[in-house]
Amino acid sequence: MNTYATVVLAAGKGTRMRSKLPKVLHPLAGMPLLGHVLKAVEGIRFDSSLASFASPISTHRPVVVLGHEAAQIEAAFGERCLYAIQQEQLGTGHAVLAAQSAIDALAPLPQTVLVCYGDTPLIRSEILSQVLHEHLTRRATLTFLTAHTDPPSDYGRVVRDSSGRVREIVEVKRASAEQLRIREVNSGVYCFERAWLWPILQNLPRNASGEYYLTDLVAIAAAQERTIATVSGTLDETIGVNNRVQLAEAEQLLRLRTLERHMYAGVTIVDPATTYIDDEVQIGADTVIFPGTMLTGKTTIGADCRLGPGTTIYQSVVADRCVVRNSIVEESVLEEDVSMGPFSHCRTGAHLARGVHMGNFGEVKNSYIGAETDMHHFSYLGDASVGERVNVGAGTVTANFDGTHKHRTTIGAGASLGVDTVLIAPVTIGARAYTGSGSVVNRDVPEDALVVGVPARLLRMLNTREEQDKDEKEHME
Ligand code: UD1
Ligand code: CA
Repeated sequence: MNTYATVVLAAGKGTRMRSKLPKVLHPLAGMPLLGHVLKAVEGIRFDSSLASFASPISTHRPVVVLGHEAAQIEAAFGERCLYAIQQEQLGTGHAVLAAQSAIDALAPLPQTVLVCYGDTPLIRSEILSQVLHEHLTRRATLTFLTAHTDPPSDYGRVVRDSSGRVREIVEVKRASAEQLRIREVNSGVYCFERAWLWPILQNLPRNASGEYYLTDLVAIAAAQERTIATVSGTLDETIGVNNRVQLAEAEQLLRLRTLERHMYAGVTIVDPATTYIDDEVQIGADTVIFPGTMLTGKTTIGADCRLGPGTTIYQSVVADRCVVRNSIVEESVLEEDVSMGPFSHCRTGAHLARGVHMGNFGEVKNSYIGAETDMHHFSYLGDASVGERVNVGAGTVTANFDGTHKHRTTIGAGASLGVDTVLIAPVTIGARAYTGSGSVVNRDVPEDALVVGVPARLLRMLNTREEQDKDEKEHME
C-alpha cells in the first residue's frame, strides 16, 4: 500500500511578526494561520486515477513540528494533530527531521512524506492533491510547488539549467544578483520519498547561514540525478506570512475568496470592499448583505435575511428571514423573522424567539425573549425570561444587578410594560399583567393585575376580556 504522511512546520519564533503571539496562532479571517493549513491538509482528496498509488489514509493525522511556544499551540489544536518537538530552531530541514520518529511510528508506514509550512494559510487542498499526484505519477524522489511572482520578494528562487531541469533552490540571503532576478519561487510545499529523505536529512551539513535548510535537498537530489518534479501554483494561494504586511495581504486575498464563494452560492453582497466574513461563517441563499457588515466566528445565517448596513454578528445563529440593521449581535440566537435595529445590541446569551421585534437602542443580555414580543425603543433586558407577545414599553429596564449579585426577571406571556417601567430583580410579572408608565416594580405582580406607581401597587385586576381590550386599545394610542 502506498500511503503518505503530512508534516507541518510550525516551530519557528516568527521573529519578523514582532509579536508575543506565536506566528502560526495569528488569526486570519477568524482562524489561526495553522488552522487554515490543517484544513487544507485534511481536505486532500484523490481521484480514481490515483487509486493504485495512494489509498487515502484518513487515520494519519498530520504531524505538526513545534518548538517556540509549543504548549500554547498544542493547546489550541489538541487531538486534531500529532506533535513532534524541535528543541532548537536550526532550520526547516532540521525541523522535518524532528518529525521522523512520529512518522516512522505510523502504520502502515508511509512511503511518501508531504511537507508544508504552518505560515502559508491560503494553500488549498486541490493544489496539495496535485503535488501528491504529480509526485506519485512521476515516481519522483522529490516534488515541490513553485509560483511565479513579480517582485519575487523574500521567497527562495528556483534555479533551473538551460534545459529547464531544476538544479537548486537558493535563498535570498545567498542568491547572486542574477539569481535574485529569477521570478520562479519556492512555495514551501514538498513531497519526498521517505526512504530517501531520512538519511539525507541526517547527513545534511549546516549551510553558510549555520542552519539546515530543507531547500538544500533540491541540489542534493539534482546532483544524484534523481527525479525532481515541480507543480506550478499561483502566488495568491502560496503566500507565506512572515510579517504583518504579508498577514494583511493574505487576509485581503482570503476575504475576497470567501466573499466570492458566498456570492456564487446565492448570497448578495452589495459592497464586497466593506464586507468582512470569517472563514467558518455559513449563509443561506438570497440573503442580502449591505455595506459595512462583519460576520465573524462560527456564525450561521439563514436564507432571505437582510443584514446591515453597519452590522456586526459574532459567533451567533441567525435563522431565516431576519433583518438586522446597524446593530451588534454577539454569541446570541435569533430565530426566524426577527427584526432588529437600528442601533441595538444582543450580548452573550440573548435568545430572540420567532418574530421578535427589537427596535432602536435596545440591549438584551443572557435572556430569552418569547415569540412576537415587541421591544421598540431604548430598553434593557438582562437575565430575563420573557414570554410570548409581551409589549415592552419604551425605556423599560431590568435592574438586574444589586451591586454584588445578578438577579433574574420573569415576564409572563401577553404582559404589557408601560413606558419607563423599572423592574427591580428578582421579580416576576404574571401573564397578561400591565404596569403603568414610570412604575418601579420591586414585588411580584400577579397575572392579570394592573400595577402603577413608585413602588408599584395594585390598582385593579384586569379580569374581563373587555377590560383587557380597552386597556390594550389605550396602550396602542
Ligand atoms: C521558506 C523557504 C523558502 C520559501 C518560503 C515559502 C526554507 C529555507 N526557505 O522561507 O524557500 O520560498 O519558505 O514561504 O525553507 N520552521 C521550523 N523550524 C525551524 C525553522 C522554520 O519549524 O527551525 C518553520 C517556521 O515556523 C515556518 C516554516 O518553517 O512555519 C518556514 O520557515 P520560515 O522561516 O518562515 O521560512 P521562509 O524564510 O519563509
Ligand atoms: Ca515563511
